[in-house]
Amino acid sequence: MFEPERDVRGGAPSSDAQSDTRPSCYHAPALILISGIAQAPWVVEDCALAAENLMLAAYGEGLGTCWIGFAQGYLNTPEGKNALGLPATWVPVAPIIVGHPTTMPAPVARKEPEIRWVG
Ligand SMILES: Cc1cc2nc3c(=O)[nH]c(=O)nc-3n(C[C@H](O)[C@H](O)[C@H](O)COP(=O)(O)O)c2cc1C
Repeated sequence: MFEPERDVRGGAPSSDAQSDTRPSCYHAPALILISGIAQAPWVVEDCALAAENLMLAAYGEGLGTCWIGFAQGYLNTPEGKNALGLPATWVPVAPIIVGHPTTMPAPVARKEPEIRWVG
């Protein structure tokens, strides 16, 4: 069975936690990989939209999510695809970990959007 922390990170934790730069899955119990046929038009955009919908729906159910972009490199290797049963012709776009948050993070400051009106 696929375990996000073990399989994405590739085995035991490094003995030197400070210099361990492998992607963390924060011990989440589940990873949902949104992927599609690599040659399909708009595959990245479609998957990103699906990912956003998934994250909002999970939040509505009281769950926490995080897009683990650092896992995409590994998941796009033959070994990573094999671990998830992903066909070779598919591309992993959005690895989303899902779990029960221990705390609700405080809202973060937002930058002002840069809007340019034309016309
Ligand atoms: C494409 C993408 C990839 C990300 N990859 C990672 C990741 O590998 N590890 C991680 O801890 N967070 C990752 N994040 C989450 C961001 O670091 C950040 O927490 C998130 O976008 C929320 O931003 P905010 O704090 O401004 O709301 C990723 C986010 C996006 C959009």
